Amino acid sequence: MVAKLPIGQPIVQAPMAGITTPEFVVACCEAGVLGSIGAGYLSGAETKQFIQEVKAFTTKPFSVNLFVPEQPKADAHLLQQAKEALQPICDELNIETPTVIPTSNVFQDQVQAILEEGVKIVSFTFGLPDEKTVSTLKQKGVYLIGTATSVEEAIAVEQAGLDAVVVQGKEAGGHRGSFIEPMVLHPTATLLKDAIENVSIPVIAAGGIMTKSQVTDMLELGASYVQIGTVLLTATECAAPKLHKEAILTSGIHSTTLTKAFTGKYARGLRNKFTEQLKEAVTAPYPVQHYLTQPIRKESARQNNREYMSLWMGENSYLAKEASVQEIIETLLP
Ligand SMILES: Cc1cc2nc3c(=O)[nH]c(=O)nc-3n(C[C@H](O)[C@H](O)[C@H](O)COP(=O)(O)O)c2cc1C
Repeated sequence: MVAKLPIGQPIVQAPMAGITTPEFVVACCEAGVLGSIGAGYLSGAETKQFIQEVKAFTTKPFSVNLFVPEQPKADAHLLQQAKEALQPICDELNIETPTVIPTSNVFQDQVQAILEEGVKIVSFTFGLPDEKTVSTLKQKGVYLIGTATSVEEAIAVEQAGLDAVVVQGKEAGGHRGSFIEPMVLHPTATLLKDAIENVSIPVIAAGGIMTKSQVTDMLELGASYVQIGTVLLTATECAAPKLHKEAILTSGIHSTTLTKAFTGKYARGLRNKFTEQLKEAVTAPYPVQHYLTQPIRKESARQNNREYMSLWMGENSYLAKEASVQEIIETLLP
């Protein structure tokens, strides 16, 4: 049997790690869509606190999104090359050469927090959760959602026992959830149609969905739900920095690019000096590159300089408008 999500509207607020706040998630839930906590960069304790804050202000269902951890393999030579590529920017911003911060695996602590707080919907990106995690969560009746950027990955999500799959087209803002090499780039509509033919779990379309007609098109193609990210970034309740919102609101048709220079993993965001200068540069694998560029992004933000910041947004960012979450959702409802 194909289980459905317990939401009034066929819309999922995209989990956006580093951007989503409890207030924003609650506003999305109260607007009738599935609110999603982007817990990717949080510790287990922070994830628990975030969940508690959302629960304190809404009784509506919401999900928690986790990054499936990966073991980066960065040899010393590659790391040196990646650092050297960033040096001219560090010099320009007048900051120290970056050092690598050892990464700790928070995934199991986050899963523990989810179990303790009785969360009913969990989504994953950057890969498949391990069998034990899947069975532990499923035993507790948790609805599991995977992320795929190809039909092959969508099939893998279904085979791993997950209940639904987000298919992320090339238009999507933020990181690509790809986990099977080589990474492929399919338009959302094409990927959606191909995925529906190959899996029997519900398919959630994500990538470039910014208008009512785009929502309707995806649902007519057979999407069970649509997942929206960029269109909500300019919402009043969204905590994205002013500079990020302005970059979206003033963006044009060709303003975005795919880059792995910020984190070592491909992501779509505003084309700026950083993405252009480092187009051909050697990068360390994710998340090592993420830590290497962190001081650059921080200082750039401090200087109110968008040229060295990662300003994630989807290809259709130019369609974004400033309004409340409720108003934005109303413009999208089929
Ligand atoms: C700022 C930003 C952060 C994102 N962070 C996450 C994340 O933490 N987890 C995740 O699964 N997807 C993340 N995504 C991708 C979204 O889930 C979704 O695929 C994307 O927003 C859809 O395309 P759109 O932005 O054109 O609507 C992020 C997207 C954006 C724009």
